[in-house]
Amino acid sequence: MEGNTLLQIAKDFGSPVYVYDAEKIQFQYKRLTSAFNKVKHLKLNYAVKALSNISILKLFNQMGSGLDTVSIQEVQLGLKAGFKPEQIIYTPNGVSLDEIEKAAKLGVQVNIDNLSILEQFGTKHPKTPVCIRINPHVMAGGNTNISVGHIDSKFGISIHQIPLLLRIVENTKMNINGIHMHTGSDILDIDVFLYASEILFDTAKHFTQLEFIDFGSGFKVPYKPGDIETNIEELGEKLSKRFNDFCKEYGRELTLAFEPGKFLVSEAGYFLTKVNVVKQTTSTVFAQVDSGFNHLIRPMLYGSQHEISNISNPEGRERFYSVVGYICETDTFANNRRISEIKEDDILAFKNAGAYCFSMASNYNSRYRPAEVLWYKQKAHLIRKRETFEDILNHQIAIEI
Ligand SMILES: Cc1ncc(COP(=O)(O)O)c(C=O)c1O
Repeated sequence: MEGNTLLQIAKDFGSPVYVYDAEKIQFQYKRLTSAFNKVKHLKLNYAVKALSNISILKLFNQMGSGLDTVSIQEVQLGLKAGFKPEQIIYTPNGVSLDEIEKAAKLGVQVNIDNLSILEQFGTKHPKTPVCIRINPHVMAGGNTNISVGHIDSKFGISIHQIPLLLRIVENTKMNINGIHMHTGSDILDIDVFLYASEILFDTAKHFTQLEFIDFGSGFKVPYKPGDIETNIEELGEKLSKRFNDFCKEYGRELTLAFEPGKFLVSEAGYFLTKVNVVKQTTSTVFAQVDSGFNHLIRPMLYGSQHEISNISNPEGRERFYSVVGYICETDTFANNRRISEIKEDDILAFKNAGAYCFSMASNYNSRYRPAEVLWYKQKAHLIRKRETFEDILNHQIAIEI
């Protein structure tokens, strides 16, 4: 989006504010579908956790996407946004049997990732189609917190437990209609995908009733101009061919499913903050903005690098700044960044603020969560109001003391 448009949005809606570009989301969705256009049945299930605003979900619904959900609340949000239950896959980790049964009752595709719940669910509901999440034991992902397919990870059913898994399926006579893996986020090397996919194909051969194979997600997006990213087009070419060959071997046309979050929404998002204080110390110049890890935690959690530009002074002379927040703990967004000269009240735009940014925001320090705006059809639409003091007090109970 143009800096001037973002600046106007900050003026109209105040700061801090999240802004999402609908066109960029649509572009990424089309890019992924065309990369896999040689596959007869392709299903993209947008990972709701990345950015769960109901207007964003409606945009995905309108594009023909399905949804990947991880909680019963995400399922409910998806239904509220107009998705049909059969367009939703529910892939929780470590939830109760009760929650899984609730999701199944709503009619969504259940994906189970542990043998204990699989056995209990299969015994009680042998007719309900179930997908199984496999852990292929592949180390992949840009950070240990987002590498979830390795041997020490809590996710998925180990490939070494396939014999026990098959025994449970046989004993309960349950219907396994899909198999799934998700090995991590920010995976650059497509060979890692292809290698893990072979493990999934091998596993698939054990099940005769499959309708789909879900390859999860984890595509790496660029964080700055010229940055490396997953080569989606090359992956599409190679995996589609392998998938089509597998379907022939398997004897049935299966659906190839993905559940991308970051790839679809990361680059579409901007986080706009206002500079409260420019503070020169003996060693550095801090630009302190009206935000902190209560609104954007990824740099502190994963060391993620969000490009920051001063949209109030884009042509200014570049200087080095540490961009920090107002939280009462160290909340460094960026260290030693070259940014055009910053004055107090300038608006800084953080890029790649679409995925896992607002959805991880909190009220820490009793601050309000920011507003969200969708830039759609050349117009700024408020899609979430900034919180107020009432929201902070909401659900709190002041007892007699
Ligand atoms: C099961 C599952 N599927 C899909 C995703 C989306 O991954 P990404 O945002 O890297 O595309 C995640 C992310 O954590 C996940 O846990």
